[in-house]
Amino acid sequence: MSSLTLGIETSCDDTGVALLKGERTILSELLSSQIKDHARFGGVVPEFAARKHLENLLPLVDAALKESGVKGQDLDLIAVTCGPGLMGSLIVGVMAARALSQAWGVPLIGVNHLEGHLFAPLVDSDDLRPPFLSLIVSGGHTEIIRVDALGQYQLLGETRDDAAGEAYDKAARVLGLPYPGGPEIDRLAKEGNPHAFDFPVPFKNTKDVEFSFSGLKTALLWQVRKIGKEGKAIPLNDLCASFQRAVTEALLAKVALAVQLTGIRRVAASGGVAANSALRAALTESKESQQWKAWLPRISRCTDNAVMIAMAGRCAWERGIRSPADLSPDPSMEIA
Ligand code: KG4
Ligand code: ZN
Repeated sequence: MSSLTLGIETSCDDTGVALLKGERTILSELLSSQIKDHARFGGVVPEFAARKHLENLLPLVDAALKESGVKGQDLDLIAVTCGPGLMGSLIVGVMAARALSQAWGVPLIGVNHLEGHLFAPLVDSDDLRPPFLSLIVSGGHTEIIRVDALGQYQLLGETRDDAAGEAYDKAARVLGLPYPGGPEIDRLAKEGNPHAFDFPVPFKNTKDVEFSFSGLKTALLWQVRKIGKEGKAIPLNDLCASFQRAVTEALLAKVALAVQLTGIRRVAASGGVAANSALRAALTESKESQQWKAWLPRISRCTDNAVMIAMAGRCAWERGIRSPADLSPDPSMEIA
């Protein structure tokens, strides 16, 4: 009989629970988003996020088991995100997973949240195999990882300051848009001219895989102030489209560089910003993209979810990776 893995994700502000049969059959996939709770504060409030996970997690685990007709004792593995992320949020997931593991007599494995994102494009595609390049673009990370085998990762480069998602969230704040900023900017950009403002494309022509988004956010801020001083209306759609174009061009340039440097022509993208329509189009339809084949997760699995954690945990377990029973969270855990 196929193995049953319970996945638990609580690294930031989404409580995710999933039940996986074998390596890729999803029996249950539940998510309790806290976006509405945090939106009124303009960003994630860590202490509040931890309390919400505490309220949401066990009812979600119960619901996932119930809808799959599975008992806790029938599980073969519990996979839980143990870092990187917010300490308070991680503790709730890891401690709950430890308690359930003890109570049900089921082994436990800790999963790196970034390895989880790296697995998201693998959830629905069985034709993506290493070696491939993984662009992880989330609220906390922007990096390109070389995947020579599952479990064998090399960091090719990352952001020097803000992550791409963080840049979208900060830009949204500058524009008076709600949190999280990415989806909102994506929506408004659809009606805007991406070339209306000539925002700088950071590190576009450097020969390293590196990103920087804080200057771009400042350029946006200056532009908004300038327009304000001139007494004109803020052209929201054009500003969003131009900002999004600059972020996308920066990401695309470094994917192209990584392909050129490694000779690897398979590119997978994941993380919240991989839901961005301009980035998805750039990775699959641009002139540059003719040099590679791209794999993108479905939109709902770009952002945090427990399916990717269950799958990464199951795969690590099969590779012989084991975690101690007293697994503890590591908020600054690295993937490579
Ligand atoms: O992966 P994720 O759920 O959480 C982290 O692990 O950080 O990513 C959340 C980030 C937020 O910064 C959000 O603004 C961004 O992903 N995001 C987007 C879009 N959807 C979510 N950014 C640009 N365009 C989108 N459509
Ligand atoms: Zn994430």
